[in-house]
Amino acid sequence: MRNDLECTLFDEDVILSRLDQLAATITDDYRGKPLTVLAILHGSLVFMADLLRRIPLPLQLSCVQAASYGNATVSSGVVQLGQLERELLDGRHVLLLDDILDSGLTLASVIEAVTNKAEPASVRACVLLAKRKLREQEVSADYIAFEIGDEFVVGYGLDYGGHYRNLPCIGILKNEVLAAATLGE
Ligand code: XMP
Repeated sequence: MRNDLECTLFDEDVILSRLDQLAATITDDYRGKPLTVLAILHGSLVFMADLLRRIPLPLQLSCVQAASYGNATVSSGVVQLGQLERELLDGRHVLLLDDILDSGLTLASVIEAVTNKAEPASVRACVLLAKRKLREQEVSADYIAFEIGDEFVVGYGLDYGGHYRNLPCIGILKNEVLAAATLGE
């Protein structure tokens, strides 16, 4: 899989040491508060597993399915959300976890659903990656592990057509790999 990368942006050791810092900040901010981490599937799975094991606080974990990409490298513009577990959100401090903040549509949709369908004490967002770009939806993340340019990236939970989620690093795919997949080769 690494051979399909044009370049590596973040190796696993760099990601994990940044997660140490991020987890320490989150731990300080949520100490003594009823915390529910709401992970947005599937992209945040690897990030969630590594981040949560670095947060030594009592917390509840909930997950919500969100899909907007299909097989393409640009968002379809329509976000489909799964069911929310309201009993894990009401009266609690909710921390959303997502893999990447790109157009902003996914995060904005989840925040809207959480605040419309439940009564959380607070809602914040934490993302592994945030693209430096103008967003379609004005939404920001409270915790960001890394900022990147406007490039399509894979690895560490992020996929292209369902592949590369288990790559331990984050990188940019070669153009010929994207072209071959687009042609169905
Ligand atoms: P939006 O555009 O809604 O994007 O902010 C959020 C979701 O879209 C997926 N996404 C990507 N997936 N490489 C990926 O593998 C990317 O560069 C990328 N940009 C967006 C991702 O699932 C994210 O949660």
